[in-house]
Amino acid sequence: MAVITGASSGIGAQFARRYAAEGFDLVLVARSGEALRALADELASAHQIVAQVHVADLTRTADVDALVAELRDGLVRVDHLVNSAGIAPEGDLSDTAERDLRDLVALNVTALTLLNRAAVIRMRAQGTGTIINIGSAAGYQPMPHFAAYSATKSYVINLSEALSEENRPFGLRIFAVSPGDTDTGMGSNPSTDKRTPEQVVDTAWRAMRGAAPSVVDGAANSILAVVSSRVLPKRFGLRIAERMMRRMV
Ligand SMILES: NC(=O)c1ccc[n+]([C@@H]2O[C@H](COP(=O)([O-])OP(=O)(O)OC[C@H]3O[C@@H](n4cnc5c(N)ncnc54)[C@H](OP(=O)(O)O)[C@@H]3O)[C@@H](O)[C@H]2O)c1
Repeated sequence: MAVITGASSGIGAQFARRYAAEGFDLVLVARSGEALRALADELASAHQIVAQVHVADLTRTADVDALVAELRDGLVRVDHLVNSAGIAPEGDLSDTAERDLRDLVALNVTALTLLNRAAVIRMRAQGTGTIINIGSAAGYQPMPHFAAYSATKSYVINLSEALSEENRPFGLRIFAVSPGDTDTGMGSNPSTDKRTPEQVVDTAWRAMRGAAPSVVDGAANSILAVVSSRVLPKRFGLRIAERMMRRMV
């Protein structure tokens, strides 16, 4: 059984397609019930799997608690959890509405952390399990004009790397997958040179068989992540990131 948040579109929906093709039963999570039901019906009949829909707004405490309860003891098994639900408000922090910032942290940080905790408890009891957290190439470098989002994704990468090691002795595989610009509904970057959700999921699938606590999707994004986080002096990296983001927002 694979539980996938953010399954109504983009990268999460592509994870759902891949898991279904591999024969996994699914629990698809997001706010858009209609989109989830259409995908669940399509995948159930194409692959003879059971696909359940769990409608939830993961910025809301009650909805997170309900999904946590499912992960802890509602579902028959939890073999895989993919945390793909995320939002990415762009612009200077001072121009971003307080409400959007609360939602950003509630979804990208709080919900993801509590869902990891619940899945880890369940998977330790099972003696096996895989958690994939979707980070971002923007999590490897502080991003002016995208500051809070990039900080939430640094958190996702750090959390995943630490949990990977913490849970290795219990037979769990936990890692972060960080896409760069990817062709989904997210973001205002008009670039025509984007990666596809299929490529991101392929990267995750390859990483599942290895032991790396985090991976970046695509060679160019991987090089950029290493250069910006480990090679460039911090101030220089910040200036380049500021110029890059200023063109987009
Ligand atoms: N696309 C990129 O360039 C890119 C780059 C780096 C990282 N990422 C990361 O990849 C992940 C997937 O994004 P995507 O590109 O696939 O974008 P997307 O198509 O917009 O998908 C975002 C998903 O999150 C769900 N979601 C948003 N708010 C939610 C809420 N309050 N409660 C529950 N679910 C919610 C959306 O479903 P509903 O609206 O139906 O709730 C949707 O299924 C995100 O974590 C994002 O940060 C994307």
